Amino acid sequence: MAIRGCVSSGASQFTNSRCSSKPETMVRHLLLNLLLLFSHNCDIFIDAVKIEDLEEQTWNNHSLHSVPQDLDTRLKRLDLSNNFIRQLQTLALPYLEQLDLSSNQLDLISKGAFENLAQLEQLNLSRNALNNNLGSNSKALQSIGTLRRLDLSLNGLSDYSARLFLRNKTSLDELKMTGNSLIRLSRRMFQESNALRAVTLDDNLISVIEQGTFEPLWQLEILNLAQNNLAHICDFTLIQLKHLNLSHNSIEFFMSRENDHMYELEVLDLSFNKLLYFPIVPKMNQLKFLYLQNNMVGSLNSEASMVSGANSVYSDIMSEKIISKNNLHANWRLMPLLYIDLSYNHFTSFPLETLSRLSFLETLNFSYNCLQSITWNVRNYSNMGYQRQLYFPSLKQLYMKSNGLVNISHFFLKALTKIETLNLEDNSVQPCAFKGHLSSEPTQQMLFNKHCVAFQQLSTLKHLILRKNNIRILHANAFQQTSLHSLDLAGNIDMAMHLGALEGVQETLESLIISENNMTSCDLSLPCLPALSQLNLSNNHIDNIPSSLSCSPLMEIDIRNNAFVSLNDACYRIKPSDHVLQWKLLQLL
Ligand SMILES: *[C@@H]1O[C@H](CO)[C@@H](O)[C@H](O)[C@H]1NC(C)=O
Ligand SMILES: *[C@@H]1O[C@H](CO)[C@@H](O)[C@H](O)[C@H]1NC(C)=O
Ligand SMILES: *[C@@H]1O[C@H](CO)[C@@H](O)[C@H](O)[C@H]1NC(C)=O
Ligand SMILES: *[C@@H]1O[C@H](CO)[C@@H](O)[C@H](O)[C@H]1NC(C)=O
Ligand SMILES: *[C@@H]1O[C@H](CO)[C@@H](O)[C@H](O)[C@H]1NC(C)=O
Ligand SMILES: *[C@@H]1O[C@H](CO)[C@@H](O)[C@H](O)[C@H]1NC(C)=O
Repeated sequence: MAIRGCVSSGASQFTNSRCSSKPETMVRHLLLNLLLLFSHNCDIFIDAVKIEDLEEQTWNNHSLHSVPQDLDTRLKRLDLSNNFIRQLQTLALPYLEQLDLSSNQLDLISKGAFENLAQLEQLNLSRNALNNNLGSNSKALQSIGTLRRLDLSLNGLSDYSARLFLRNKTSLDELKMTGNSLIRLSRRMFQESNALRAVTLDDNLISVIEQGTFEPLWQLEILNLAQNNLAHICDFTLIQLKHLNLSHNSIEFFMSRENDHMYELEVLDLSFNKLLYFPIVPKMNQLKFLYLQNNMVGSLNSEASMVSGANSVYSDIMSEKIISKNNLHANWRLMPLLYIDLSYNHFTSFPLETLSRLSFLETLNFSYNCLQSITWNVRNYSNMGYQRQLYFPSLKQLYMKSNGLVNISHFFLKALTKIETLNLEDNSVQPCAFKGHLSSEPTQQMLFNKHCVAFQQLSTLKHLILRKNNIRILHANAFQQTSLHSLDLAGNIDMAMHLGALEGVQETLESLIISENNMTSCDLSLPCLPALSQLNLSNNHIDNIPSSLSCSPLMEIDIRNNAFVSLNDACYRIKPSDHVLQWKLLQLL
């Protein structure tokens, strides 16, 4: 079967971990075990507890129905998770800092249960039933003001009970309330927990957030509201927030009123919503990552109508009389965005003017839209008769998988001045032939040929993925003048490859994938490729490894599922080269 030993270096650097434990630790463990053997409860302890050290005990998953008696009072960390504990009485562990009671059946915590835990900083109560016996449970929680981290996820909590549980929490830094039944957040919710830095409220039923709920939490940096029922963000005012997750709601638009505050926002996740427009973000922000995948942006038939749509919604909401201002573009131009995910939206045309404002943008995922073609529909300011050229001056990675793309305007390719990775998997792109001399520019005829794409324009291009494009002919010089390091041509069934197809990239090409192309040895003619270290020829009808590969310092070659007669035969053919010694052949037959 498959010999998958393709990675040769590195493995020997790992020593067997069982042999590498330090002598001191082993001695300590031995001593500990001996001590326990002589103690009274040795049987229980040795069976039931894995003792890390005296300050920590782990009773995870021990079918406990109550807290074990006689716990060592010096304990700092106690894990009682995954048991069947239903009631909690007073704990007398004055040094305890961390308590994990998650995944029990807790529904009654006695009022004084936590009173003697003066040092408690972390409390995990997730997966219990704390919405019962509210009076007692909430008093117990109110008695600990020292907490820094609290997890109350999956407890069936209503808005009211959450509010009671959050009283007297002035030291709380991190709060998690995933999977409860919160519906409406008001300013009273966090009134006594106003030092919060991270709040996770995903998977609730939140549909209303009153003004003033989060604004007073001056240290709030991370807010997760994913998987709720939010429909509109009418005025985003949380200038202190760095990371906002609003994914999996039903949000139709996101707006922030223009002001001169500097917002700290760096990451905004609006994926899996119902956005029709790009968000209107704060004018001054620090946004680096914007997630907009799985929305309906681009459904309106043109970029112009989308932009004016967003602007008129803004004017309506902010009841501003001046309709003429383009807030969307004005604010987008100032945004230091590096990454935007627009995959799984409804674009039929590429939003050239909007995205070209993002002068720092390095990565754009535009996969799974409905582009079919990228034409250069840019408004001209004058009637000079020529096309205005825009640029994507920092864009290095462009993903356009599964768009039904047939043609790409040469103005668009020209705009990609820094492009390194271009993923065009699952489209219908045909690479143009290039008939000029080595040094010549692509010809006008070629540039305006609507039926092919002139990759020769992309001189910075290093990684090109053209798998599954129904490429019929790979013409001579198809990638001339690029800097290709890797090329993926898999799944182009019936592709004919010209002898000179890789002309111009022979010296740079390191990885080549021609698998699942239904090729025979006659169809496959590779030139000398002196940089090639990875080659995938699997799933073809090849019976003979091209002799030109003796030029290549191959480290990995996959020739599974081909027509080789025997292993020996194949090996024999590749033996003449010295480099061949490094080859790790994947399954041959
Ligand atoms: C609390 O416990 C649950 C389940 O054991 C775990 O998934 C979660 O990460 C813990 N919470 C914190 C804040 O560590
Ligand atoms: C609030 O917490 C402090 C410190 O943990 C505690 O002393 C006090 O009794 C608590 N207040 C209430 C009302 O329980
Ligand atoms: C936002 O939350 C969703 C759902 O919980 C999660 O899958 C996603 O990774 C989060 N986004 C970011 C940017 O962390
Ligand atoms: C978009 O492409 C980037 C880069 O490959 C990837 O990390 C991200 O997961 C993609 N997004 C989706 C929704 O597939
Ligand atoms: C592969 O090529 C052969 C002829 O060489 C042809 O008969 C067959 O239909 C092709 N297979 C596919 C999946 O196109
Ligand atoms: C070669 O390509 C096939 C099909 O595309 C893939 O399944 C296989 O993992 C690839 N081999 C290597 C070594 O990456």
